Amino acid sequence: MRTDTPPPVRLTDYRPYPFVIKHVHLDFFLEPTKTRVRNKMTGKRSFGEHALMNLDGENLKLISIAINGLAVPEEEYEITPEGISIHMPAGEFCLEIETEISPETNTQLSGLYMSGGRFCTQCEAEGFRRITYYPDRPDVLAPFDVRMEADKDAYPYLLSNGNPVRSGNIGTDRHFAIWSDPHPKPSYLFALVAGDFDVYTDSFTTMSGKETPLAIYVDKGDSDRSAYAMDALKRSMSWDEDVFGREYDLDVFNIVAVRDFNFGAMENKGLNIFNAAYVLADGQTATDADFEAIESIVAHEYFHNWTGNRITCRDWFQLCLKEGLTVYRDQEFSADMRSRSVTRIKDVIRLRSRQFAEDAGPLAHAVRPDEYARIDNLYTATVYEKGAELIRMLRVLIGDTAFFAGLNRYFDSYDGKAATIEDFLNAMQLSTSEDLRNFARWYSQSGTPTVTAKGVHDTIARTYTLTLKQHTSATPGQPDKIALPIPLKTALFSGKGRRLSTKLNGQANDEHLLILRDFEQDFVFTDVSSAPIHSLNRGFSAPVRLVDGLNDANRSALAAADNDPFAQWEGLQTLARNILLEMSKDEDGDHKDSLSAFIDAIDEAYTATIDDPAFAALILRMPTVGELILDQKDADPSKLHATRLKLKRAIARHMQGSLVATVQHSDTGVFDPSAAAAGRRALKAAAIDLLSGLQDEHADRIYESFLSAPTMTEKLSALNALANVENGGPSGEYFDKALLAFEEEWKDTPIVMDKWFSVQAMSIRADLRARLHRLCSHPDFDFKNPNRVRAVAAAFAMNNPVGFHAPDGWGYEFLTDIILKVDGLNPALSARLTTSFESWRRFSPDRQAHAEKQLRRLDDANLSKNAQDIITRALA
Ligand code: PHE
Ligand code: ZN
Repeated sequence: MRTDTPPPVRLTDYRPYPFVIKHVHLDFFLEPTKTRVRNKMTGKRSFGEHALMNLDGENLKLISIAINGLAVPEEEYEITPEGISIHMPAGEFCLEIETEISPETNTQLSGLYMSGGRFCTQCEAEGFRRITYYPDRPDVLAPFDVRMEADKDAYPYLLSNGNPVRSGNIGTDRHFAIWSDPHPKPSYLFALVAGDFDVYTDSFTTMSGKETPLAIYVDKGDSDRSAYAMDALKRSMSWDEDVFGREYDLDVFNIVAVRDFNFGAMENKGLNIFNAAYVLADGQTATDADFEAIESIVAHEYFHNWTGNRITCRDWFQLCLKEGLTVYRDQEFSADMRSRSVTRIKDVIRLRSRQFAEDAGPLAHAVRPDEYARIDNLYTATVYEKGAELIRMLRVLIGDTAFFAGLNRYFDSYDGKAATIEDFLNAMQLSTSEDLRNFARWYSQSGTPTVTAKGVHDTIARTYTLTLKQHTSATPGQPDKIALPIPLKTALFSGKGRRLSTKLNGQANDEHLLILRDFEQDFVFTDVSSAPIHSLNRGFSAPVRLVDGLNDANRSALAAADNDPFAQWEGLQTLARNILLEMSKDEDGDHKDSLSAFIDAIDEAYTATIDDPAFAALILRMPTVGELILDQKDADPSKLHATRLKLKRAIARHMQGSLVATVQHSDTGVFDPSAAAAGRRALKAAAIDLLSGLQDEHADRIYESFLSAPTMTEKLSALNALANVENGGPSGEYFDKALLAFEEEWKDTPIVMDKWFSVQAMSIRADLRARLHRLCSHPDFDFKNPNRVRAVAAAFAMNNPVGFHAPDGWGYEFLTDIILKVDGLNPALSARLTTSFESWRRFSPDRQAHAEKQLRRLDDANLSKNAQDIITRALA
């Protein structure tokens, strides 16, 4: 184990920075191996006597340093591994520092680096210090001017934040451009791009009538594939005006697509930088899921302009202030653009599969933690996804009017400032009579609460008493939990499935909001003539696990009757989970009765919702192995997988006729990316997936569907289906033939080839292990490209539980080998891959032993601080 683990950063250690930076002027002389950066900061000490100024810096070569025009003698400053300390004079200063960096050898993709022969930057969270010495913390805000100079032919476009000021030639070979960003910003929002691109342009007229040019910079030849992202951008701009009253605030807005990127995208002021996978799309090369992701990420980054940029975070503990709120905003946008209920279901699936798993393991942390070891590892499902749920819950708790009043107050009070969660909650508190002090606990307490319900009907008093209890298991560093306010939308149904109007606290309604504030509480409904069935946490009003206390017969009755699509879907998922767990407990039983009742319920719901294909597709979706693991101790993923297959097979057998009809349907005419058309394709994919469970019976049909697929969505769903047939029959041959054809067609289009890699990494065919090794030695596999590494390693470790958790441990070993290779190049990526081990203690003892062995191997390898942080916590 490493002994040099750094002490954690603590929220309580926050101290304001003792200097103000009034203005920053950056001058870049761009060369791949030797870029010169001249950084001129003006400012003054804002408080305190201490004359030392500490600036962050990492991997910088100092060329010169001057204060107020005079070179600083060596004894006046000290360079440390973390930065530089300079003795400052009293009063105003102009500090000029020149450094040299090598973008070409920067494989971490943090700071200034090269991607596809272009310069680009990534500064969140602490990348700016890899460009120049600076107080690289989000509470130091300044207006930036940027001048760039570079070779004209190689880098015809020179972009930075804010507004373009001037550009021109320098001699015959070089040119320059100057950009100015009037909005004070923290260094993590700085961006620079230089290179050659195709540019897709458009414009948007804002609510106050200002015409704003918009541009998307992409690889040569890709400009047609930017149309959807541009359309999503314009819809986002207009939606943020309509729903939140937020207008864009610069003269231009630019998006740049790069292929080497650690995350999805980055909200740099006026110059968003995107992973190309979340920009480029057309029907031939992108799936509907890609279109959906592009729409939501474009919106997310744009929405950050107000929630993140205009109002930023005081320190990184407040990360959820911008991320939770912005995810909430992009979820609402998608719900308005598409189907609200389908969007909500997908958000819940994502929350459950990623965040609940995180909350249930050694990496659990609060939405606003009070300490962290490495900031890069705080970009988690908890901060993002649970953070968004807290905003949604807050809205349910205080109501729409107070919610929007509070948000406007927040925008008014903190515009141009670096704020905290307390600031946000104060703004909300001033707009509501609901006491939010207890609600704030949601931000500091980790772990997912479990709510248990039990109802008792009193025939004589005509009351229904619902007893609700909440419990949250211990998480790392938090052995004891307090009660949280949990808002639960609740309805009561008659035994025949009719929604009842009942009274709670004298108020009559057919849906009530219960707020469970204590560990245990009774809610008494009056006017209830016969024993009802309760439906709780409707719309997933609180991010909790629910033990509803119903029997499956009641649940089926509810699922058939409920007019709330989320509740209906949730009821069927619960039924599915129960039957899957029952079947895996008793493998030899035939479970005939429960199986046929379940399948009837699915079939009935399917038939009833077929006019809403996107929703019907979700009805056909069975809980994943990853979700089932959460409900089990000593889980055996292979067994759960086999059980799941058995259930899917039974459904397919029963519904074969209608599934085949669905598979044969294909839209004709021009490609339509709309939610409605995507819904039809999603249903087709769900049907193909179920039919593939019948092994080779439908192999010809599926292969035919691959060959004739008019869209990437249909191509990939057929390919996935072939990848999911276990035996060596015709599907195997078809799979390989299809892969060859796919590779031949797309070998020159990297983001499409990523799909080719990942469909194989997610396959469950017997040759998986050999296949993975082939993939890693494929000439196009590249350890330096995160998309490609994730296409193999993350697809395998996060979406192939059968392979990853192979009983003899080879899956864990394979991932570990990759982590060891990636870590030296890109610590953020290796740390992310390492989180795949987060649930290791939930598995059967033999698997735990294998996982622990690999974690120890990683622990002994002296990896990066980022990876080490995850390893240490996983092993703790
Ligand atoms: N702030 C980015 C987002 O949420 C995510 C990100 C974090 C990107 C760190 C790069 C580095 O949109
Ligand atoms: Zn974000």
